[in-house]
Amino acid sequence: MTTTTYLRGSILHFLRDPGAPADPEAWEYWEDGCLKIIDGHIGAVGPADETLKTRAAQDALHDHRGKLILPGFIDTHVHYAQVDVIASYGRQLLDWLNDYTFPAERAFADPDHARRIASLFLDTLLRHGTTTAAVYPTVHKQSVDAFFEEAQRRRLRMICGKVLMDRNSPDYLRDDVHDAEADCRELIQRWHGKDRLGYALTPRFAPTSSREQLAMAGRLYAETGVWMQTHLAENADEIRWVKELFPEARSYLDVYDRFRLLGPRSVFAHCIHLDTEDRARFVASNSAMSFCPTSNLFIGSGFFDLEAARSLGVRVGLATDVGGGTSYSMLQTLAEAYKVLMTHGQRLNAWRGLWLATLGGAECLSLDDTIGNFAIGKEADCVVLDLAATPVLDRRMQVATALEERLFALMMLGDDRTVAATYVLGERRI
Ligand code: GUN
Ligand code: ZN
Repeated sequence: MTTTTYLRGSILHFLRDPGAPADPEAWEYWEDGCLKIIDGHIGAVGPADETLKTRAAQDALHDHRGKLILPGFIDTHVHYAQVDVIASYGRQLLDWLNDYTFPAERAFADPDHARRIASLFLDTLLRHGTTTAAVYPTVHKQSVDAFFEEAQRRRLRMICGKVLMDRNSPDYLRDDVHDAEADCRELIQRWHGKDRLGYALTPRFAPTSSREQLAMAGRLYAETGVWMQTHLAENADEIRWVKELFPEARSYLDVYDRFRLLGPRSVFAHCIHLDTEDRARFVASNSAMSFCPTSNLFIGSGFFDLEAARSLGVRVGLATDVGGGTSYSMLQTLAEAYKVLMTHGQRLNAWRGLWLATLGGAECLSLDDTIGNFAIGKEADCVVLDLAATPVLDRRMQVATALEERLFALMMLGDDRTVAATYVLGERRI
């Protein structure tokens, strides 16, 4: 038996990057719109009066009139094992890892701890309207199992994979090439392509993997067709260290390139300190970037250049990077993205911002055939936003006239209080 559900409200979704200045052909908007969801997938989208004509008596109708329905947010880079690290004081990257992050990740050797935090993390994402993420667990195999089990219970589309780190890290977080390969193979077998779950080979970053381990990851990447995620060119001391450790490489990106870790399913977080040749390699290999503004400001790393990437056609998604990042909210993340880009004289309009948080994220993760907008047949994950959720927003909306002005105020002032409901495969979860 099929289940058909209707969601009524103002509906906005994107067909492609609106760019800057924004191209109005890049989105569709219905002030009084309706989504028809059949067995968790988009069956129709359009004006409410038209879409509702097909509604049968037994079909549920969720009335969100006056609120804004968007595709679920997509966080392209976040660490579930850093739930307890968020908002840790006064360190740049390498000290932040040593003083706060590695000790917190140690606790994930305990599967009960991993399960508790995975559960808390995923419920937190849903409360913030995020329905898909590319997630780092820890080096422990059990941290991956715990995460995927909790994601599967919630029917979420999630990407995750065991963190690889076999050097330059505390012994309690170190693996080795042989066992890491065996763990990856076992986890890929168990989880990749199961329900809505995907596996990502996850070398933490170049300094914590030996050449042998990076080569192993490159082999598995070519052999299995899973994702690959890592960190790249985030912080000045980190980059100096990579130069020392890999003197043969032309650049930080070239370290990964030498081990065949670039490609359409490769997602590199931060990508702040790149040169022209690096960006050309992104284009040629069709690799993707995650823009992590709150983290880049909080850890004092630097300013991502969105235009340099997008003008070349490089796929870019937005990311919270919690616990280096300071918010789970993709709206707050957009507000910081706007400020970061202003330092380059770039203006992130609301259309492009909301595209980045939805379809842009899906493109970044090569999931745009499945999620990211309300195209017919896609999975029906969505977030319902209340633009009058706080007195400040409410007041600002009263004086805003154009839709663009309202969306920009939403992007600058919204947070988890703005999320009125979150739906996963057409079912209300928040
Ligand atoms: N580089 C290596 N590991 C990490 C991490 O956990 N967070 C961030 N922001 N950068 C990293
Ligand atoms: Zn990170």
